[in-house]
Amino acid sequence: MRRFAGALLVTLGLLAGLGYITLSRITRSWFQSDLALRSQLAVASARESLASHWTSDPTLLNRTLADITRDERIMAAAACTMGGDLRAATESYPAEFSCRSVLERMRGEAPAAQQWSMRAELPSGPVHLSATLVPADGGPLGVILLVHDLSYLERRDVTTRRLLLAAFFVLSLGGGLIALTAARFAWRGWTIELRRALTGQPTPQFQPLLRDVRALAERLAHEQEREGGAGIWSPARLRATLTQHLQGERIVILANREPYVHHKTPEGVRVLHPASGLVTALEPVMRACSGVWVAHGSGSADRETADSHDRIRVPPGEESYLIRRVWLSEAEENGYYYGLSNEGLWPLCHVAHMRPVFRAGDWECYVAVNRKFADAVCEEVDTDDPIVLVQDYHFALAPRMIRARLPRATIITFWHIPWPNAERIGICPWRDELISGLLGSSILGFHTQQHCNNFIDSVDAFMESRIDRESNAVVQGPRRTLVRPYPISIEWPVRWLQQVPDVASTRLQVRAELGLPPDALLGVGVDRLDYTKGIEERLSSVDELLTRYPQYRGRFTFVQLAAPSRTKIDRYRELNERIESLAAEINARWASGSYRPVVLLRSHHEPPAVFRFYRAADLCYVSSLHDGMNLVAKEFVAARDDERGVLVLSQFTGAARDLTEALIVNPYDLRQASAALAAALAMPPAEQGERMKSMRRLVSEFNVYRWAGRMLVDAAELRRKERMVGKFRSGWSS
Ligand code: F6P
Repeated sequence: MRRFAGALLVTLGLLAGLGYITLSRITRSWFQSDLALRSQLAVASARESLASHWTSDPTLLNRTLADITRDERIMAAAACTMGGDLRAATESYPAEFSCRSVLERMRGEAPAAQQWSMRAELPSGPVHLSATLVPADGGPLGVILLVHDLSYLERRDVTTRRLLLAAFFVLSLGGGLIALTAARFAWRGWTIELRRALTGQPTPQFQPLLRDVRALAERLAHEQEREGGAGIWSPARLRATLTQHLQGERIVILANREPYVHHKTPEGVRVLHPASGLVTALEPVMRACSGVWVAHGSGSADRETADSHDRIRVPPGEESYLIRRVWLSEAEENGYYYGLSNEGLWPLCHVAHMRPVFRAGDWECYVAVNRKFADAVCEEVDTDDPIVLVQDYHFALAPRMIRARLPRATIITFWHIPWPNAERIGICPWRDELISGLLGSSILGFHTQQHCNNFIDSVDAFMESRIDRESNAVVQGPRRTLVRPYPISIEWPVRWLQQVPDVASTRLQVRAELGLPPDALLGVGVDRLDYTKGIEERLSSVDELLTRYPQYRGRFTFVQLAAPSRTKIDRYRELNERIESLAAEINARWASGSYRPVVLLRSHHEPPAVFRFYRAADLCYVSSLHDGMNLVAKEFVAARDDERGVLVLSQFTGAARDLTEALIVNPYDLRQASAALAAALAMPPAEQGERMKSMRRLVSEFNVYRWAGRMLVDAAELRRKERMVGKFRSGWSS
């Protein structure tokens, strides 16, 4: 920016100099012709007197010359004969300009002219000498020589120069200020565009939709207004909110997945942190608030580690909240989790071209298991108006079931996956029951406004209810359910990073472990092995990159961390096999020596191991075909405290609406995605820094404490209103 301002001022200075020279030349020539004209006028007006005294009385001729020199600018005058003799002259007439010499020059330079003039230097300063013929009937009588003082011209020149310089200075300053202001606003976009043009990167197609950027800007402005500068959200602030707005009531979370799974291993019991966006987001909230997390006890050592009430205090060593484990038989798990939840609802809600499977038996299981969990929640509460957070598509029926037993409960339900349009949801044989179950909630949250709209449209299409569009609520009898977007996020700072060395050492370590040279270019993908994540498309983009950009062959390696998931379901097993053979195919195509472009790590990785890869990578590619939010994208941003690394992000994730500085791509478009990978690998560090800094600012502010805090504040408001309405009602009836 400073260089730009300097260049601007130098340019304006040069322009000012050039302007001055041109202008001073023009004014000089104007002054010369002005003086010539003056001389002509002076001689013309004295013509009669000159003619009558020319031959008679030299004293009178002298007087006439003296009259002419009354003009303050005419210093001296002389009358010469055509033969070059002096007839008369004023006292101060300079001897340097003899009649003969002047007439010779005049005849030489302008033989036929009536007047001739020249500029000359005298010891007293510059002068203008003019020779004008004195006309008479029989030919010119002689010549009048006039000497004009030019020192006033010099003075005028100096003043003009000063004025001009002052004017140019003011103009330059004004221009510079305007240019700097304009540059300040336009600089970022301009430099990015310029750099893109210079590096030939086709980035414009990786831009987010303008609509999304506008929506984000509006949301940020609204949030800022709402927060009133109360500062960043932290565990302490979330705890304070709970105490202030909800009298510190303990929270009960209902989620299928538990945050700590105990497994039997040959080395003893191991605690695992499952690969789940839901757990990533909610566990820090629970640490901050304390309370009970009701979940399926799915670990092989879960029973033996729980107490006689099926509870266990976590996190290990910290023990700030409880997990209440609910046990499921194999048949229950098959019907409720693998069947209805993951073969029915999961493909129903994700546009990933998988047909949902709806089995009546699975549905019955789903109903029964929802009741089992709802009962467990009711056992864990300690008041008749508890705050219950119901999580995800596994528990669409639980909110109404809990409401039936605890009518005064505040039930906040969050749907972690997309809610499809009404037409699509309409194919589910139990759509009415699912929607009705969710409407047992006080607040129903989705990641995006689009998902909220889809839900409201579905209610409109299939349910008897009134929709209050102004407050985004569904009203059924005396009850209302607020339907709101709450984009989920991650904790900030991420605690796992304390266990990971800095970027520079991690880069070297990870490359060495993978058998890569220290300067190898590295991309990373982190997912559950799920068909919605677009892992096949991602690997195909790497293949396309190596086909279209040969400079990366042998230099670029993509590491895919894939946590096995839902492996009892055929589709997931098939996906696993397809990915394995695709990786082998790509590797066979581009292998040379020990070089393999794809490294597939299909096993569970604990969070610190995942964060090591985020830190070591040059880029992270999130290629989901459809995703409610996607927290991998936000975790990658959180990991990069060096403000380097490029995020390539699918436009079909909720995160693409928040992280507009990522390279946004359509993962189905392999050409576009491979071009984005190439652009990421060629991106100059300064641009990486700019993008990463801006994404880090957003994720740090819009962290998971804010997500939870906003829902709790909304819940508190709703509770207050309901209590007031309750009081009025009891007042009226008494
Ligand atoms: O939102 C994250 C999410 O996709 C949840 O919907 C899901 O419960 C979880 O990650 C992982 O799936 P699972 O619990 O089946 O392992």
